[in-house]
Amino acid sequence: MLTVALPKGRIADETLEIFSKIFNTNFAFDNRKLILEEYGFRFLNVRNQDVPTYVAHGAADLGVVGLDVITEQGLDIIDLLDMQLGKCRVSIGIKNEDDINWSRPNIKVATKMVNITKDYFAKKAVGVDVIKLYGSIELAPLVGLVDAIVDIVDTGATMKENGLKVAEDIMYSSAHLIANNNSFYAKKSEILSIYEKIKFVVDKSKI
Ligand code: PRP
Repeated sequence: MLTVALPKGRIADETLEIFSKIFNTNFAFDNRKLILEEYGFRFLNVRNQDVPTYVAHGAADLGVVGLDVITEQGLDIIDLLDMQLGKCRVSIGIKNEDDINWSRPNIKVATKMVNITKDYFAKKAVGVDVIKLYGSIELAPLVGLVDAIVDIVDTGATMKENGLKVAEDIMYSSAHLIANNNSFYAKKSEILSIYEKIKFVVDKSKI
């Protein structure tokens, strides 16, 4: 039995669609159920940011989660495959009428992704005051809380609707298949078998 942590929402649905294709049967969570058992797999329905935690601690053998979350948390897991789902960018956003003044002593930035933000500014050797927020990040520059934000950009609609623009892209992200270190050795053949099958579907949908 392999346990797979999936992030509630679109990525979980799209991953279960891949499993449905592979095994030619319907994989879907029942209403409000957090565990789904099917075909020798146990799927866990968890919060996006919690996927690496379940995998790193071995409560799940595998997980599917955005590269942005993997990078932000830096937990000890194996990154197996880019599943090409949920593609987005992590970008710096500022007000339409603003420019970033890189020579300012400390740029104030609001974000959920504190580590990615600090690393990016450190690499540029620019001082930054990071303010951690948990959502509605786009609001922060509009009310003068910060000079800029670091946030996920998918369609760009949220920034546009709020009079913000992308100043710079920090990284590209998409959902990756990850594995627990011990599971990868203890259950290697099972994991490689499903890895190959998922890769086949992912590669086919790229064409
Ligand atoms: C993300 C992000 C932006 C929005 C970007 O939030 O924080 O607000 O999506 O998408 P867009 O470029 O297509 O407008 P999400 O919906 O994931 O909710 P969250 O803030 O609760 O994480």
